Amino acid sequence: MSGSSPGSIERLLGEREIVIACGPGGVGKTTTAAAAAAIAASRLGGDVLVLTVDPARRLADALGLKGLGNQVTPVPPEVFQAAGETPLGTLSAAMLDTKQSWDALIGEHAPDEATRDRILHNPLYQNITERFIQSHDYIAMERLYELHSSGSWDLIVVDTPPTRNALDFLDAPARLADFFSSRLLRWLIAPSRSTLLGIASKPFTQVADRILGTQFLADITEFFVSLQSMYDGFVERANAVSRLLADERTSFMVVSTSETVPLREAEFFATELATRGLDIGAVVLNKVLPTSLSDPDALAATRRLAQRTPEMTAALAARLDVDASVLDRVLETVTESFEDFAVVARREASSRERFPLGGATLLTVPQLDRDVHDMEGLLTLGSYLLGS
Ligand SMILES: Nc1ncnc2c1ncn2[C@@H]1O[C@H](COP(=O)(O)OP(=O)(O)OP(=O)(O)O)[C@@H](O)[C@H]1O
Ligand SMILES: [Mg+2]
Repeated sequence: MSGSSPGSIERLLGEREIVIACGPGGVGKTTTAAAAAAIAASRLGGDVLVLTVDPARRLADALGLKGLGNQVTPVPPEVFQAAGETPLGTLSAAMLDTKQSWDALIGEHAPDEATRDRILHNPLYQNITERFIQSHDYIAMERLYELHSSGSWDLIVVDTPPTRNALDFLDAPARLADFFSSRLLRWLIAPSRSTLLGIASKPFTQVADRILGTQFLADITEFFVSLQSMYDGFVERANAVSRLLADERTSFMVVSTSETVPLREAEFFATELATRGLDIGAVVLNKVLPTSLSDPDALAATRRLAQRTPEMTAALAARLDVDASVLDRVLETVTESFEDFAVVARREASSRERFPLGGATLLTVPQLDRDVHDMEGLLTLGSYLLGS
């Protein structure tokens, strides 16, 4: 676990090469990853890259990510300057395009152009890479490995997709290696195409053939035979990706809100990361209610206001030059909702205290009063991450 000072991820961002933001869906993973990268580039220096998944349109625009694609795009210094900041380092951003990344990977591992083209044009390959979430998980980790290996970045902050099972992406490299080493695959592709053509005559495949069409079986055969030539490269690479995730250069930042369901999911996540021996540098609780809501003085004032007499309301209405019964309704609503928020804020605070940190730094980031979609917003959020 990282030994950062309490309430700051400064050391985490300064010492690690890869920080992976993960956690339940919709809690602010993408925003937090971008904010951490922006503040690191700006205040800590170095060349920082944020590798993001599905950023909201306006956030993508703010990072200069126009259009889709894998390309790494530098965020111009003017973007920082417009937000009143002179960055010490540089920030670049890249989006993850699953299909482009898979195609590049196949291109790299294929022994020759003919094999590459056969795979790329195989309908089964296109289906696997476009439809399966797990293919997305694997390629995210693969792309991270590639960018890290380039040595161009001092720090890479990684956003992760909202997967159904939030841990899928961690297992993706190992699962891919398993798949390539599996007896099923060996059996399918060995010794040659004739095996598969052979099983095509068996009753099961005859049925499959009737339901799925002859073309489907032909596609399967061709796909696995083409993949065979890439076996070693793939397994080696998948293992290297797994090792990179587990070594001391990489740390995880679990992001959540303080609501019951996401928090429980985040706890599960933190436990699983720890079980796998992966480092959790920080737990970021995003969108928390301001602590001022649980201030005893504020609560006392609310209670006093709730117990107001008609004379007090009338006097205040006269001072404000408004109708007394209208003011009464407003005060009723305001005091009730303040008390409700105070209850939620107290519950959130006690859930936070119960979170099993296991040595990770706990950070809270308040709910800002607007969406975070520009550099100014990112830097504001980033300042909370640095504890300033
Ligand atoms: N601290 C904050 N204050 C105000 N708005 C926030 C804050 N953090 C995130 N948001 C907003 O919440 C929305 C969701 O954030 P974001 O897209 O980062 O979540 P996510 O965890 O990446 O979601 P998904 O799991 O769908 O990828 C965005 O509109 C973002 O601007
Ligand atoms: Mg996201």
